[in-house]
Amino acid sequence: MERELTMEFARVTEAAALASARWVGMGQKDAADNAAVEAMRALFDTVHMDGTVVIGEGEMDEAPMLYIGEKLGTGEKPEVDVAVDPLEGTNLVAKGMPGAISVLAVTERYGLLHAPDMYMHKIAVGPQAAGRIHLDAPVEENLANVAQALNKKVRDLTVVILDRPRHYELIKQVRECGARIRLITDGDVAPAVACAIEGSGIDIMMGIGGAPEGVLAAAALRCMGGEMQGRLWPEDEADIERARKLGITDINKLLTLDDLVKTDDIFFAATGITEGALLKGVTFNSYGATTHSVVMRGKTGTIRFIEARHYFAKKPKYAIKGVY
Ligand code: FBP
Repeated sequence: MERELTMEFARVTEAAALASARWVGMGQKDAADNAAVEAMRALFDTVHMDGTVVIGEGEMDEAPMLYIGEKLGTGEKPEVDVAVDPLEGTNLVAKGMPGAISVLAVTERYGLLHAPDMYMHKIAVGPQAAGRIHLDAPVEENLANVAQALNKKVRDLTVVILDRPRHYELIKQVRECGARIRLITDGDVAPAVACAIEGSGIDIMMGIGGAPEGVLAAAALRCMGGEMQGRLWPEDEADIERARKLGITDINKLLTLDDLVKTDDIFFAATGITEGALLKGVTFNSYGATTHSVVMRGKTGTIRFIEARHYFAKKPKYAIKGVY
């Protein structure tokens, strides 16, 4: 994929972020999600690519847009696979809480694990600690190894964990080791990516969250030389069947970064909707709005942070419905 696509993908997540940012604090997570989906879908039509959604809003009969298998782009080469989460953290936007982003990853065809819509047990770190974690290692061992790799004490580490009853034991173990914890209510993609951004204040992301979100985070970590491991965490037979339909025969397989994202021919883009550790949120102002995005290219490892000023008076109105 050519480097020119970088800017195209930033425009796509910017549009979705702008659209859903109108719904911040409104208590309507579905409306916020729909706005993001529609805006992202509209912008994808302008991108010169022959894309297929492999991680999206659901199966064709569940989602009107950005469903798995949907074709995106103008239909010209390159042929690519697309993973999207137009609004990652629907509750965060509904409640006006930090950490919501719009996010996508694009790879050459068959470059991403086709993750079913179910849970995944995950662990993620940045480049300095790559090679020093193992999903099955005791918490104490992982924390000690990461601390050593970062030239810190365990008590200086910050671990991000979703605040869920399923994590009470994990939280207890991390506390016993003396590491600091940032509990989040939703949205584990941004903190996983933030592990690889120096100065973000986050060192490790651990716990069970969405599998599609795991693949999106892995895409960014692959671009940045970080590490992530995962294992699907089925809740019932239906989950196992769903995975099987997507070609996953060994549900217990330890998924390495190479299993989650199989190629360096990859782009990752995200735009902040509400303020977070990775990106600032959308702000509306006298001329329109400001967005903050990050775009990465796997081939070169270049990471661009883009602050964009959107002058609504000069924008085609159809592009981001409901924003102006
Ligand atoms: P949304 O789909 O509502 O945006 O939620 C996303 C998310 O918070 C992910 O970031 C996380 O991986 C997953 O949901 C956690 O799932 P659950 O809320 O069921 O614990």
